[in-house]
Amino acid sequence: MASYLVTGVSRGLGFEFLKQLSNNSDNTVFGLVRDKAATDKKVKSELGERANVHILAADITNYDAVKKSADHVAKVTGGKLDYLIANAAYQSEVRASAGIGDFTDQPELLEKDLLDSFNINVVGNIHLINLYLPLILKGTTKKVIAISTGMADIDFIAKFGVTIGSPYAISKAAMNAAVAKFSAQYAGQGVLFLNISPGLVNTRPFDNPTEEQKQGAAIMLARFRDYAPHFTGPITPTESVNHVMSVINKASVENGDGGSFVSHFGNKQWL
Ligand SMILES: NC(=O)c1ccc[n+]([C@@H]2O[C@H](COP(=O)([O-])OP(=O)(O)OC[C@H]3O[C@@H](n4cnc5c(N)ncnc54)[C@H](OP(=O)(O)O)[C@@H]3O)[C@@H](O)[C@H]2O)c1
Repeated sequence: MASYLVTGVSRGLGFEFLKQLSNNSDNTVFGLVRDKAATDKKVKSELGERANVHILAADITNYDAVKKSADHVAKVTGGKLDYLIANAAYQSEVRASAGIGDFTDQPELLEKDLLDSFNINVVGNIHLINLYLPLILKGTTKKVIAISTGMADIDFIAKFGVTIGSPYAISKAAMNAAVAKFSAQYAGQGVLFLNISPGLVNTRPFDNPTEEQKQGAAIMLARFRDYAPHFTGPITPTESVNHVMSVINKASVENGDGGSFVSHFGNKQWL
């Protein structure tokens, strides 16, 4: 029997984590969302009544709301938590196909997007981890996972000319460093911290893409094929979460995995 807290379970990979983990009725699964009523409704209609699912409301940029959620979880579990999966993210769509040098006419837009990405994907997640750490330290498994992205791999960016999504990639790379810092501080107390990229997953199909988005997607698909000739397209949330959970289950502080940044295959193969 294990307890999990997953952020961003309203849709996409977060909902898939919630579904797969709560399929085992021995697990207790807490899902953090911004719109609790909408997620409660979705859970009920797609998963049915599940007594082991608890949906809690908090925007991860709202420190007090996240703290309240941790207090609530502690009350239900007797003060402990086994797994924290920091999945929620701001994936900017602000000219996401443009390169970092293409904003000279809109510097304020670039600045806002950098700060929004940093605020949610880094500051929000660092507060989240700090607020839940007392529970994790009392848990049995003691695993904290940040869902990252191969787009934050500096060697991959440089070698394969990955120009798109700069504020997002920069914020995720910063979070990779934050997770390594947490690991440096808490590995001695048995807490595993890990950054895992979920692969390219079809969670958000483009509706009515702009010309810039179409061009950006075509360029990136070509780059991805250069990088991974076997790559045929995005995987499903089910496939991705299966892979990610297998990496989480195998990883340990003892094996030297603490603070590392790996793919859904458990290595540096991002696609
Ligand atoms: N899909 C991919 O191909 C891919 C590839 C690499 C990495 N990833 C990573 O995988 C994770 C999940 O991606 P996804 O594709 O499932 O994303 P998604 O469908 O866009 O879902 C994002 C989730 O994050 C939540 N969220 C956003 N801002 C939030 C905030 N301030 N406070 C609380 N929740 C917030 C959203 O809640 P609302 O419903 O309230 O907006 C939503 O539940 C992310 O960390 C992403 O960076 C995804």
